[in-house]
Formats: sequence, C-alpha cells, structure tokens
Amino acid sequence: QTQMFTYDPGFTSTASCESSITYIDGDAGVLLHRGYPIEQLAEHGDFLEVCYLLLYGELPTKARKADFDYRVARHTMVHEQMPRFFSGFRRDAHPMAVMCGCVGALSAFYHHSTDITDPHQRMVASLRMIAKMPTLAAMAYKYHVGQPFVYPQNDLDYASNFLRMCFAVPCEDYVVNPVLSRAMDRIFILHADHEQNASTSTVRLAGSSGANPFACIAAGIACLWGPAHGGANEAALNMLTEIGTVDRIPEFIARAKDKNDPFRLMGFGHRVYKNYDPRARIMQKTMYEVLEATGQRDEPLMRIAIVLEKIALNDPYFIEKKLYPNVDFYSGITLRALGFPTTMFTVLFALARTVGWVAQWNEMIEDPQQRIGRPRQLYIGEPLRDYLPISKR
Ligand code: SDX
Repeated sequence: QTQMFTYDPGFTSTASCESSITYIDGDAGVLLHRGYPIEQLAEHGDFLEVCYLLLYGELPTKARKADFDYRVARHTMVHEQMPRFFSGFRRDAHPMAVMCGCVGALSAFYHHSTDITDPHQRMVASLRMIAKMPTLAAMAYKYHVGQPFVYPQNDLDYASNFLRMCFAVPCEDYVVNPVLSRAMDRIFILHADHEQNASTSTVRLAGSSGANPFACIAAGIACLWGPAHGGANEAALNMLTEIGTVDRIPEFIARAKDKNDPFRLMGFGHRVYKNYDPRARIMQKTMYEVLEATGQRDEPLMRIAIVLEKIALNDPYFIEKKLYPNVDFYSGITLRALGFPTTMFTVLFALARTVGWVAQWNEMIEDPQQRIGRPRQLYIGEPLRDYLPISKR
C-alpha cells in the first residue's frame, strides 16, 4: 500500500506535481489544454497546432505555425539502420511490443545529442519524437502486415502523411481522403495529453533521474499498453466483438457488476472523470463521420456500443459508481473503420500522447526544484527479527 502525498514544493514526488499544461475537472467533465477547451481545439485546431500549444503554452501565430510544421517535418525520417530492428521481431509480434523496442532504440541513436540541461536540445529531442512516432508507428504496421515500409512525404500534413505511410503501396497511387485525414488528426488531438495519467507519470519518473528522453518515452509506451489504460481501446473493441449481439448486452452488464467477476466494461469508467469524458462525445461524432465516409453506416458493433451505453447510463450501479464512457469506448470502432487492426489501436494512442509526454517531461526538467522522483510507502511488513539457520526453520 503506497502512501499518497500532498504536494510539497521541496519534494518532487510522482504522487503529485504542479503543472500548467492540462486541467481536468472530473465532476464537470471539463478538459482544458493551456486553458483552451478540448471541444474548441478539436473543432478548430489541427494536431501540430495543439502540439505547439502544449509545448510553448500559447497558440501559434501563422508564421510560427508554419515554422513549427517545417521543423517537425525535418525530423520525420528515421535512421536507415532502424528497419534492421524491425526485422528482428516475429511478424505476429504485437505492434506495441515493437514500439517499446524501437522507440527505446532511438536513445541509442541520439544519446550523444541530448543534453537535457540545454533547452534548445530538449526541444530538438521533443520535435524528433513528435516527428518520428508516425514513421515508426507506420513501420510497425507495415512490418505487421508484411508490406514494404513507406517513407514520409513532407508536403503532406501530419495526419495525411501518417495515413499514407500506413496504407500506400508501391504498386498503386495513394489518394489522401481529406475527411479521413481530418478525422485522424482530430483523434490525435483527443489523445494528446491528459495531465498526470499513469503513462505520463511514468515518463516524469523516468525523466526525473536524467534518463535520455527517448528511453523515457519508451517507458511511457510500456505503461500505456495496459488494458486499464491505453490498451482499453483495443480491449473495448474486443469486448464489443465478444458481446456480438444486442440481446447479449444484459449478460455483460451483469458480469461488470459482479464483484466476483474480474470483467470490467472496457471503455467505461475513469479515475478522474465522474461525469461524461468530453473526449468520448467528440470521438462518437468522429466515428459517425468516418463510418459515413467509408460506407460503413451499418457497422454492427456501433449499434451494440450505442445500446450498451444507453443501458449502462440508466443502470443504478453505473449511476451510483459514476461510470461513463471514456475516450476509449468509441475509438476502436472509429480506428477499425479507418483501416487499422485492433493491435494498432494503442500504438495510435501512443503516437498522439507523445506530445503530452514530452511537454510534461520538459515542464519537469525546467522546474528548478525538480529532484529525482522517489515514491514513498507505508510499510506493512514484518517487524525487525533475527535470521534463523535453516536447521531451525
Ligand atoms: C485511459 O488517467 C487517465 O487520464 C487515463 C486516460 C488518459 O487519457 O491518459 O484517460 C486514458 O486510461 C482511460 C481509461 C481506459 N480504461 C478502461 O476503459 C478500462 C475499464 N475501466 C476500468 O478499468 C476503470 O474504470 C479505470 C481503470 C479506468 C479506473 O479504475 P478506478 O480508478 O478503480 O475506478 P473507480 O475508482 O472510479 O471505480 C469505482 C468503482 C469501483 O468499484 P468499487 O471498488 O467502488 O466497488 O467502479 C468500479 C470499480 O471496480 N468500476 C467498474 C468499471 N470501472 C470502475 N466496474 C465495471 N466496469 C468498469 N469499467
């Protein structure tokens, strides 16, 4: 059992910290990035604009946005030795396992150039991560499906470049679908940052020791993989598939309420949101847009998800426990409609959350009071006792 701390400015702990990046009011269902509501950023912004906001604290002017886009584009390629890492994995390796390995391996390429005490070098490392994650994620997908890697094309916007690296093949022209690119970009915005969630706290703790930022991001990816966290989008779609038909929903609702059954409704509940996760509403709207644009209006799992949500939101147990859909509930249906297999869903979450991780990592490093994280504990073990020879045990 770990004693949770109140924030002590003289003591940097992973249990809590000061941050000016993201604000969540869980009871009101409010999510702000540097003071801007997620609804407005998702509606009017683009992902690299939100990246700039998270990193620098203000929305960019037109000139600064153009410069930021150009600087990110300069780092979209990965070292030509990176593909050799992929060839060491089995083709059926989970793409998140590949991402843990390959992103951690980036620290082997840039260990000499990341003086974390130099703000300029920290920002270069941050831009490298934001720029290279789509390329590595697309390579993980291509390796998974046995197709050749596709190089980034820097005259495309961030989301279009990513979709092209995933779905273009040498034998055909790839035509960007602006509706799907806009949807992908908005999905990245929804996953960009979320204050001190488990994976961000992992990145902060790893970074507090002065570790290479690429190694810190790899630690964040490993934590995000869990089904209670970023792995929930994959688990939620697998759950909807297992439910299979609307008439089986009550059986799964009953299981979710049974304390003796470890089953949880994936994509439901949240440690902080005790009201509707604002991202879930935007994700549902994006789901409808993508299903319409891809001719999948009658996607069978969508109907199960909508009926499940309606039943759960009117169930006394879920009302009493304040359980609402979170960002992961509708994202799986949307991502599959975009063409991704379930095993890529959390990779896409990690791709988007990289900007939140590096923004929070920079904020921690910039804090003059920051010290190595050292979570404390409440000891509940044996009192002092003497060693007993084995003959006397
Ligand atoms: C993300 O932290 C973040 O911000 C994370 C995230 C981000 O952007 O980084 O928002 C992304 O991880 C979203 C969450 C994705 N995970 C899932 O959808 C998995 C299913 N959800 C549950 O595992 C759960 O809701 C958690 C892990 C998300 C939260 O767990 P908590 O903190 O234990 O939830 P809680 O304290 O609010 O639970 C209250 C009660 C508990 O029962 P009691 O102990 O009071 O009897 O509700 C129960 C829980 O057991 N409960 C559920 C449930 N979630 C909580 N019961 C059934 N189904 C669920 N989904």
